[in-house]
Order: sequence, then structure tokens, then C-alpha cells
Amino acid sequence: TIHPVILCGGSGTRLWPRSRAVRPKPFLPLVGQKTLFEQTLDRVGGAVFAAPTVVAGAAHRDLVAEQASGVDGLRRIEEPAGRNTAPAIALAALLADAGDLLLVCPSDHHVAEPVAFAAAAETAAALAAEGWLVAFGIEATAPETGYGYIKRGAALGGGNAVERFVEKPDLATAQGFLDDGGYSWNGGIFCLRAGTYLDELARQRPAMAEAARLAVERGAEIDGIFHPDEASFLAIEGESIDYAVMEGTDRAAMVPVAMGWSDIGNWQALHEARSKDEAGNSLRGSAELVDCRNVLVQSDGPRVSAIGLENVIIVIDGDEVLVTSADGAQKVGKLKGASQQ
Ligand code: GDD
Ligand code: MG
Repeated sequence: TIHPVILCGGSGTRLWPRSRAVRPKPFLPLVGQKTLFEQTLDRVGGAVFAAPTVVAGAAHRDLVAEQASGVDGLRRIEEPAGRNTAPAIALAALLADAGDLLLVCPSDHHVAEPVAFAAAAETAAALAAEGWLVAFGIEATAPETGYGYIKRGAALGGGNAVERFVEKPDLATAQGFLDDGGYSWNGGIFCLRAGTYLDELARQRPAMAEAARLAVERGAEIDGIFHPDEASFLAIEGESIDYAVMEGTDRAAMVPVAMGWSDIGNWQALHEARSKDEAGNSLRGSAELVDCRNVLVQSDGPRVSAIGLENVIIVIDGDEVLVTSADGAQKVGKLKGASQQ
């Protein structure tokens, strides 16, 4: 079986004002009725998966409890504060058996085709069982600088060896990878054997591996939630798995997967993932649109009335109103409102 490890952290400022520090992106129903976190739990609900482990910050204890209440056998690990993904995964790996195959899943992505996801997880697990650290490769369609890039090497099992893993390249480099055609995006989903991950972490980031080991050794389970030792864990310098492990390992492999993946990185990406009417508009809340095309409206109160707009995003949440062009959606995180929340 495959042991899902679901990561909840980060703040998602680019979906401000809907996503705020108190209720960040994973815990919002952004696409469909369920939240992205609930959809992630559903995706790993099939017979090939064991009960999931959720790793989340103390600040989100109640949100996790509420939204995962229907999951049998759920295991929980709570970080006193976020130290990024490499330490979070280390905690889960240390609490698992060394031979367990972990499927590390972000909690803030949308996957339109869960069946394709589950099939890729099985392909990845077969490689992980042989000692590979397996990334899910997504077809690259734009020079995104917020993603990792994977250069596909020789065929291996149902996937490929990874020739090179480059996290968050600059724009020119990303454009070069896109033009080259031999690179996939890293989907941020990894399948790996717990022991292999810990070995690689100890080799590349010995201080982090040791601090995580102490945090678990000195940690305690309280009310069904594992709490790593605070002092040991907070001493860790935060770093993502991508930089800490994937860039520097020679045990990386990838499985290519087409599953309607989106990391819902901004309002325009959300608009694309949502179902739309014939004019390409997606509406949440009370709205009247006349002669509008490709407009997203989301209001938690006031009725929105608009005429003659194209490629526009309008979001009303509490006392905040956001209006942006589709192209401007990427810059929302830079607004004062988003950073001062
Ligand atoms: N528990 C926990 N603790 N979870 C965390 C923490 C933490 O400190 N930091 C981040 N996470 C969770 C986030 O909630 C998200 O679900 C996942 O881990 C990935 O973190 P992000 O911060 O969203 O990473 P990213 O988007 O910059 O980059 C990653 O994902 C891209 C695809 O969306 C990388 O893996 C890239 O290579 C990849 O392309
Ligand atoms: Mg992300």
C-alpha cells in the first residue's frame, strides 16, 4: 500500500482577499463544493492507499479537524511553526516504517482527473520501492518561474530517470527549458520510500536530518496528534524538498502524468479550473453580467453588476474588493492589502 502524506502550510497571498492568513487556500472551496484539502483527502481514498497522515501547522488545527473529520484512521502531525516542506516530510518519514512508500501531496492543488492521479501513484510507487525519489511530471506549457523543472532522462519503469532537477529558475532559463522540450514541470507530488528520503536528507542536509530526528525522538502524541519537540524543530532552517533533496540527488525519477493538474496559483488559474457559462464567465455569489466575456466574479455579499467587460476578475470578500485584469492576477500578492492582512 501507499501511505499518503498531506502537507498543509503557506498562506496563498495571490488569492487574496478570499484566501487570508486565518483561512488559507487549502481550506477554501475554490473549485466545486469541497475545499482543496477535502478534495486531496478524497483523491487518496482508494483501495491502494493506507490512511493518510496530515502535516499541518498549529494555527490550522481546527480547520484540519473539521475538514478531515470523516477520514478513518487519520494520523496527524502538528508543526509549532512552518519550516517548509523538507522538514515536514522528514517528520512523516521518521514516524513511518523505513520501508513504507510515502506519497507526498500538497493540499492546495486541483486535479480534474483523480483516476489518472491514482494510476500515476501506483506507477510511481513501483519505482519508489526500488529506491527512487519519484516526482510527478506535468507537461510544461508556459515559462512559469514558480515551478520546478525536470529534465527527462532514460526510460525507467513506467517513467523516466531525472537528468536534472531545477527549482524555480529565472524567466530566461524557464523559457529555455520550454523551448528545449525535454523538460516537465514538477507537480510537487512525490512518491518515495521513507528510509530513502531520510538517507538522502542526511547526506545533503545532515543538520536538518538530525534536528528532525531529535524533534521526533523528544516529541509526544497529545490527543491523537503528534507534536514534535518544539525547540528541536524550530531550530531547523526552513527549506523545501525541492532545494534540499531533489536538486542534489542522483536517485530522482519521474512519472509523466496528465490529470488536469493546476496549483491554482492565482485568480486566473482558478478561473480556468472552474466550470464556466457559454460566455466563459464563472460566477460565485450574486451577480448580473451583461455583454461580458471571460469574467470571474466572486462575492460573499454585495451583488455585482457589470457591463461590457472582458478578461476581468472581481472579488468581494468582507470589507475588501479586488478588481484586476486577467493578466494582472499574478501580481495580487504584491498588493498592500494582500501583504498586510
Ligand atoms: N506542513 C507543511 N509545513 N506544509 C507546507 C509547508 C510547511 O512548512 N510549507 C509548504 N507546505 C505545503 C503547502 O501548503 C503546499 O501544499 C505544499 O506544501 C507545497 O508548498 P508551496 O509553498 O506551495 O510550494 P511551491 O508551490 O512554491 O513549489 C512546489 O510546488 C510546485 C508545484 O505547485 C515545488 O515542489 C515546485 O517544484 C513545484 O513545481
Ligand atoms: Mg504551491
